[in-house]
Amino acid sequence: MANSHSSIVIAAGLSGVVSAINNGLAITPPMGWNNWNAFGCDVSENLLLSTSQQILSLGLRDLGYNYVVLDDCWQDPRGRDQNGKLQPEASKFPSGLKSISDHLHRQGFKYGMYSSAGEMTCARFAEGSLDHEVDDANSFAEWGVDMLKYDSCYHMGRVGTPTASFNRFKAMSDALKSTGRNILLNLCNWGEDLVHTWGMSISNSWRITGDIYDSFTRPDDLCGCNTLSPGDVNCVAPGTHCSVLFILNKVAPFADRSIPGGWSDLDMLEVGQGGMTDEEYKAHFALWAALKSPLFLGNDLRSVSASALTILNNPAIIALSQDPHGRSVTRVQRDVVGVPKDNWGVGETHVWSGYLHNGDQVVILLNAGDEDMQMSVSLAEIFVAFGPGGSAPHVKSDWALHDLWAHRMSDATAEALLAAKTEGERSRLLKKANWYNATEIPYAQGLANDDPRLFGEKVGVVEAGGVMKVDVKRHAAKVLRLRRVKKEGESFKAKGIAREERHERDEL
Ligand SMILES: *[C@@H]1O[C@H](CO)[C@@H](O)[C@H](O)[C@H]1NC(C)=O
Repeated sequence: MANSHSSIVIAAGLSGVVSAINNGLAITPPMGWNNWNAFGCDVSENLLLSTSQQILSLGLRDLGYNYVVLDDCWQDPRGRDQNGKLQPEASKFPSGLKSISDHLHRQGFKYGMYSSAGEMTCARFAEGSLDHEVDDANSFAEWGVDMLKYDSCYHMGRVGTPTASFNRFKAMSDALKSTGRNILLNLCNWGEDLVHTWGMSISNSWRITGDIYDSFTRPDDLCGCNTLSPGDVNCVAPGTHCSVLFILNKVAPFADRSIPGGWSDLDMLEVGQGGMTDEEYKAHFALWAALKSPLFLGNDLRSVSASALTILNNPAIIALSQDPHGRSVTRVQRDVVGVPKDNWGVGETHVWSGYLHNGDQVVILLNAGDEDMQMSVSLAEIFVAFGPGGSAPHVKSDWALHDLWAHRMSDATAEALLAAKTEGERSRLLKKANWYNATEIPYAQGLANDDPRLFGEKVGVVEAGGVMKVDVKRHAAKVLRLRRVKKEGESFKAKGIAREERHERDEL
């Protein structure tokens, strides 16, 4: 079943006609920057434009971060104008929103904005878009908006069944469509009303939990289900303090729902915000990439550190997110060390595994426990999606292990880049470092060409039928790309891969 499902999806993915929303957008997970995690309501024209300049000159736009998104709090607190139209607060956006979007478009960015499917926005600005969908969609289109983050606060009680929530969000989906402008819809109802079963039909991504906060594992009452029922996938109590580990546990049972055109949204990144260690941020980023979450930078890029920059600009990790196969890793192993199994969020280890377009397999070993440890996982577990109990033909091959963090940019290069005074100097530094440029070479092409910048460093081999043993530090993840070692004269007849290749050819 897994095989036939994924082959259908990949066939559709290549033709560009995919999810039921079918607007041709988000064929790979969308990437960009959103101001909320770092700035909350402190938004302005200057913030957006100084940030977009920084994204551009640090080379991040050309790694794929191309949406610049203005979150809540942009409205005039007096509400709509006399014609009933939404209006920005003039003191924050003196040139007007259209001028901002024109500026971003000239820089090669796309422009995102925010509203709520309720009577107010989440930060209680006067006007949500509930029952104003057509007017507001037209305003967004007039302002040159390319993406709408659509929240769910103050929903007037129109919630509690999948139908109630579906209809409330579908009104905006339809309104955006009828503007004639291609606007990506990022639905944000925190996993309520089984959104993972219908979000795909009307949106390009759907949030599955309350808001992330800058902690790797710390349970917090403000992420409701932490205390109500942490292990219950049906527990939805939207909150604002959900840890990385909480979100991973929440998405695990339906990690397979993301397909090209529609993605489970694990929320914006916290990398660079200061609350986690370097290893924690690396794990957070790699898992978000491999789980195909939209990848929205959430930090202040004007004061980004070398360590945060060199996490966020690692093309070998981003290539997992932008892989043409377009399917998430799934969890093939979960263990709890030294604590009762229902004690979520303490001492956990996970192994996540997923198929990639070129036949490689990505494997992420996460140690969320408090001690360094050796983790082990067998090829039979890694390839369980192709047949349980070691029946997958893949298990009979040797696999080379590539560490995808091995070629992380050096601190010295990053520090020089951050200290550079001119655009020209930055551009020279990036060239000298031979840094990846996805505008020049899209990830699909770089992967097809075996571009070494996307494949890390070979660190070992696991033999046919074998077990991988990997040392993983506490609160860290090892991120490995497994590449099949071809034997002399052998032709590989793994069912899953062969079938997918056939479908790709059909489509091409
Ligand atoms: C990436 O390549 C594009 C297209 O050649 C170019 O315009 C852009 O300046 C490059 N970006 C960087 C950071 O060098």
